[in-house]
This record gives sequence, C-alpha cells and structure tokens, in this order.
Amino acid sequence: MRFERKWTKCTVHAVRDVAPAIREFVLRPEDSRVEHHAPGSHINVGVLIDGRPETRCYSLVGDVSPDGYRIAVRRAPDSHGGSLYMWSLKPGARIDVSSPASLFEIDWSRKSYCLIAGGIGITPIIGIAGALMRRNVEVKLHYAVGSRHAAAYLDELTDLLGDRLIVHASDEGRRIDLDQTFGRLPPDALAAVCGPMRLLDAARRSWAAAGRLPADLRYETFGSSGLLPTESFRVRIGHSNREIVVPENKSMLDALNDAGFEVISDCERGECGVCAIDVVAVDGQIDHRDVFFSDHQKKANGKICPCVSRAVGAVTVNTHYQRDTR
Ligand code: FES
Repeated sequence: MRFERKWTKCTVHAVRDVAPAIREFVLRPEDSRVEHHAPGSHINVGVLIDGRPETRCYSLVGDVSPDGYRIAVRRAPDSHGGSLYMWSLKPGARIDVSSPASLFEIDWSRKSYCLIAGGIGITPIIGIAGALMRRNVEVKLHYAVGSRHAAAYLDELTDLLGDRLIVHASDEGRRIDLDQTFGRLPPDALAAVCGPMRLLDAARRSWAAAGRLPADLRYETFGSSGLLPTESFRVRIGHSNREIVVPENKSMLDALNDAGFEVISDCERGECGVCAIDVVAVDGQIDHRDVFFSDHQKKANGKICPCVSRAVGAVTVNTHYQRDTR
C-alpha cells in the first residue's frame, strides 16, 4: 500500500549515455507542464519487472526544464530489474511518472556548503550545486568516482563549478578524506551527501567526530547499496507462522506485499521510515540500507525498513496487517 501520488503520463523525449553505464532520460509530460520542484527532488516512475508493474525512484538532474523531467539511470549489475527496464526505453516510449517530491531538505540560508557525491549519487547534487552557485555562497563539490571516464556529468559540472569541483578518482589514487574536509569547514556550514551506504556511514561518523550538529548533515542514498551481498533470504512472519523467500531481484517490501502481508510505504528509498516493521529474531545478519534509523537503532535490530534493507540468512518480523489471499 502506498501513499497517494499524482501520476502523469510522460513520453520519453530524449535518451543519451552520460557515462558508459549511466543513461539519461528526459521524460516530457503529455498533457501538462513540468511541475516546479526543489533542487534535489525525485520522481517515481512506473516500470515493468517480469511483466509486473512496480515503481522505481530517481533523482531529478539539474534545474527545472520545460523539456521534461531529467533522470539518469545506472545499469546496475545487482538491479532488481528497474534499471534493465529503463535502459530498454527508446524515444517515444510512454511511462507513468509521479509528481516530484523532495526529502533532501536544504537550508538555503547558510553561507557555506559542502556537497559530496559518490557515483550515481551525483544526480540530485547537480541541481543543488546550481542553485547554490546562483546564490553566490561558498560551495565545494567533492565527487568520488571510480574513474573520470566512468563519471557522469563531469563536463557539465566543470562548467558550472570550475575549481569548486574536486574529483576524487580512485584509479588515480585519490580518495576523499572526510575528517579533513569536515574539519576545515566554517562552523555554520551545511553538508549534503548522496552516495552509497558506505560513503554515508563514513560521512556520518566523520561529521559526529568533528563535533558538528547532526541536523547540518543532509543525506540521501540509493536502495541498491548495502554492506552485505545482495542475495535471496528468508523472512518468517511471526504472527502467521509463514515463511517467504525474498529473491535477489526483489525488495523485502515487495515480497511481503505480494505474499499478502501489507506494509505501507512512501519514499521506498530508506529515508522516511514509513515502512518500518518490527524484527522479532535474526538468524544471520541484517543489512540495514536505510538512512532513517540511527547507528544505535540499527545495531539493536529492533526494526527494519523493508523497502531497501535486506538480510543474509533469515529474519523473523511482525507486519501488522495480513490480507486474505485465499
Ligand atoms: S518507505 Fe520510506 S523508508 Fe521505506
């Protein structure tokens, strides 16, 4: 069950590759205008996976444009099927798109900003960087990539930011030193981070070690990034004595809903906590991939956000509502 979203039919207006494994799509609404949205917003799109309708969430790239909603999709080796479907779309294809929404709330009143992106996490950061440049405040963007060759939007960012863009390419032996980066920021600086879970965890630790206010670190992640391998695992539903298997290419949320154990959800990116359910027992290890729970809560394993989090082995949970599937 999902919260109400307004959906619009869009046409794929343009497709181009912005890196070897990253493809950009411009999705133009058929009967309405592109809705105004805050920098860093995202949309949901309707995809078909094994013939079944599902939704996937993508950040909007850059400024609002009358051409359409610009998103970039990485062809993920551990994809649940969403990126494969998106990569199959050609110009002229039709797709359902939700109204833009933002969970990446930026306080625009600061004088200094530190933006950090890891890989495809650059997508929401581009619009934020553009908005900050127009405000004429102090801003630096640290872009962590495997190589410059594999990095999306490098030319666009260089034009936008000049020497305020610092590329940390691991094949050049350059890695971002978060302790040093945060240690040099002025006291009222705000940091915004988007990237894989490892980067977010490291950023949260360095931010706390620098003695900064937790609220001054804003972050977003993408659901496929975890600390443990993405593999199938078992879920026992405590109150029903049933056990289901969550396959490698499906989220725990979808597997529970498909089996009739309804779990409400909203962002489906591990950010809002709406889908959180109780964990009763763990026989293996939970891979908490959300950014909603604190490190302490994750360690306690009392709850899990099944939209993004997974397990290795088996986990017993309680959902509160079971649909009659007989
Ligand atoms: S639906 Fe938002 S954290 Fe799961």
